[in-house]
Amino acid sequence: MLQDKKIVFSGVQPSGNLTIGNYLGAIKNFSRFSEDYKTFYCVVDLHAITVRQVPAELRRRTYETLALYMACGLDETKNTLFVQSHVPAHAELGWVLDCYTMFGELSRMTQFKDKSSKNAQNINAGLFTYPSLMAADILLYQTDLVPVGIDQKQHLELARDIAIRFNQIYGDTFTVPDGYIPTDTMKIMSLAEPTSKMSKSDKNPNAVVYILDSKDDVLRKFKKAVTDSEAVVRYSEDKPGVSNLMTVYRAFTGKSFEEIEREFDGKGYGDFKLAVGEVCADGLAPVRDEFARLMADKAHLEDVMKRGADEAAYYARKTMSKVRRKIGFVN
Ligand code: TRP
Repeated sequence: MLQDKKIVFSGVQPSGNLTIGNYLGAIKNFSRFSEDYKTFYCVVDLHAITVRQVPAELRRRTYETLALYMACGLDETKNTLFVQSHVPAHAELGWVLDCYTMFGELSRMTQFKDKSSKNAQNINAGLFTYPSLMAADILLYQTDLVPVGIDQKQHLELARDIAIRFNQIYGDTFTVPDGYIPTDTMKIMSLAEPTSKMSKSDKNPNAVVYILDSKDDVLRKFKKAVTDSEAVVRYSEDKPGVSNLMTVYRAFTGKSFEEIEREFDGKGYGDFKLAVGEVCADGLAPVRDEFARLMADKAHLEDVMKRGADEAAYYARKTMSKVRRKIGFVN
């Protein structure tokens, strides 16, 4: 099989419900690569078990994450969609790369520090080596480009460092990947506390808008969004609440901040919040409908997973045999 297109790889964890931050910051962008790149989009269940999961929920969310990929516009005939644990080479290369990743490097990862302070009773080794498994995901496919949210930038840089290190020792083995981090919608903030990131694990139900929220929920959450007392729709660093709403509005309408300021000139926050809620709910409606349709047909989802895993395994095998040879494993 000839492969002349460049490779895109990304992954989403099947844990928690995905937010509009995940949607705008990452998943919505995935489909733009389908024509010009060979694309692999993975449901990373191996990563999910670094925090304790309820088995039935993990299983359900794995289907849901795949369905969500498809509902967000990823056509399974144009993209390789698969589940990480279905391709054992991820775990295999993960182990190998663990041996080329330094304790000090992993200790500096902010996500590790963050997650271990939140899960003090379960700081397991997997949580610590999470980034080398992520590097394995990426390097296994000789990936050129990795679309991710800004929060994954540090992990991506580590993946590059690991690839460079391995190549220096053994000669050219891995493509050194670049990140694709959208800067315009890179960070959607909490609606209740607009100085911190919108997080799917937020305890406050009004802080987070989920991709699958009903229209009523979306409208209600935006209505309650924290703003400020100036009552002017204007983008500014000292107006984090309003600026965040403007970012959401811009993402769903394509309008610039200046256009938005003009549109709401002389109007109050009430009108503005309602408008943001409307465009968001309307933008999400087709995703929600398609998701429901896909979830009603498990057999089809299983067929997509199976075909995706077969395709991914073919590429993974090629890299693994190169890696084994270079390291000195007996064939
Ligand atoms: N760590 C990523 C996240 O939490 C998910 C992920 C795992 C990933 N492996 C990946 C993203 C490889 C991009 C490429 O969002």
